[in-house]
Amino acid sequence: MTAKDFLPKTKSLAALQSAVQNCQGCELYQRATQAVFGHGPATASIVIIGEQPGNEEDLAGLPFVGPAGHRLDQAMQEAGILRESVYLTNAVKHFSWEERGPRRLHKRPSSREIKACEPWLANELVAINAKVVVCLGAVAAQVMLGREFKITMSRGQPILKNDKYTIATWHPSAILRAPEKVRRDEMHRELVTDLQLASSLCSENAD
Ligand code: URA
Ligand code: SF4
Repeated sequence: MTAKDFLPKTKSLAALQSAVQNCQGCELYQRATQAVFGHGPATASIVIIGEQPGNEEDLAGLPFVGPAGHRLDQAMQEAGILRESVYLTNAVKHFSWEERGPRRLHKRPSSREIKACEPWLANELVAINAKVVVCLGAVAAQVMLGREFKITMSRGQPILKNDKYTIATWHPSAILRAPEKVRRDEMHRELVTDLQLASSLCSENAD
């Protein structure tokens, strides 16, 4: 089974968002509080794709409201991008976690789970028809650009496909996890640069 078996007939964002709550396309729905669908205007010219909801997103039902979201907010602000103007979503819609004492720790979703969840993202992208898609981290990048894609090799390089640009960059959680401050600052600057490029590609396409 995959998410395909749970897609609604009408593929509007509203219909998709309500249908995703009933998805049992993989096992992840069993231990999550709720599905976290994308959030933002249907007319957005930039879509930003993360990996999966974290602990706080799982509880709130909204993407990027925890620590990684705060880091992303900061980078978007520095890049001159309004959070309200972009559509934020994730490759996987249910929180994958493992128990560590009292905490629920992020667990990378398996390839099977990532693949099972793809129909939601694919339909969001059709419904929105953005000019630029920004992938945060390897999971989103590999869903959009293929299993061989490496952020470390091809970060910040826009790829033109079906009349839209896809650009992959650091996941804000990877920045938060980097042990040294010098490295965190460098990755943050690179994230800001990549977001600025995404924003400038929007206006280039509009001409
Ligand atoms: N990390 C993600 O990839 N997505 C979120 O929504 C939150 C944290
Ligand atoms: Fe469905 Fe995706 Fe949730 Fe799996 S993670 S149950 S495929 S919405």
